Amino acid sequence: MDRATLRHYLTFYRDLGVKSVFVGGETEESASPVETEEHGVEPTNPLEPPQAFSRVDLVDSSDDNLERIRQDMGDCKRCRLGAGRNKIVFGSGHVEARLVFVGEGPGADEDEQGLPFVGRAGQLLTQMIDGTAGKEGLAIRRPDVYICNVVKCRPPENRTPEPDEMEICGQFLFRQLMVLRPRAICTLGATATKALLDTREGITKLRGRWQKWRDIPVMPTYHPSYLLRPYNQNAKREAWEDLKKVLHYVYDEPARPLSDF
Ligand code: URA
Repeated sequence: MDRATLRHYLTFYRDLGVKSVFVGGETEESASPVETEEHGVEPTNPLEPPQAFSRVDLVDSSDDNLERIRQDMGDCKRCRLGAGRNKIVFGSGHVEARLVFVGEGPGADEDEQGLPFVGRAGQLLTQMIDGTAGKEGLAIRRPDVYICNVVKCRPPENRTPEPDEMEICGQFLFRQLMVLRPRAICTLGATATKALLDTREGITKLRGRWQKWRDIPVMPTYHPSYLLRPYNQNAKREAWEDLKKVLHYVYDEPARPLSDF
């Protein structure tokens, strides 16, 4: 890769708020980013092929926070979704949440209000969280968790986000998750699950089975919009089971190792 291309990539990631990157064949543990005056980062091996950039990673979230991430997003127009949105839907909930739900992207109601999961699917999600926690004797309600999406701007006609849109916005999602550092993440639907797990398995296979994003346990389950369809009674029951699993894992004291489940 020539230096101009490299400069282009580094500027792109710097604008996303990424302060350091690992580039090259080294492991996360052994690679050490080097500060430069111009970009704040210098790859450890500038001669690596372009695919090395797919392994761009955040290395230091200790001085990151949700306000800074939101500031870095600004009036984001980094992808085509910025053109059609009304409001950026960054995420909402408890800043010290032990549990984070990740959805796909805002719908019409969310786009209007700037808040995630406030439409019909959101009402169902609220019922699921409050109802399941209540039945299970856990003093947890929706305001105790954090909820966000893979993409922060509404895709036109509520279409599935494109891979490049997910990649760009995913950098902000990853920073949110690194700052929140929840005990577990519950991904809602195939898009959110794919964004975190880099898998080709479908949601019907993955749901209900613990996975990991970095070192954080991930429970994939169905998207509430899917559960709203009248013929999905079975899926509804399964989603409630998944939620029960994740709520107990997160809120039972002390935290139990994943192997207990
Ligand atoms: N669907 C999502 O995936 N996210 C929202 O915020 C609302 C609906």
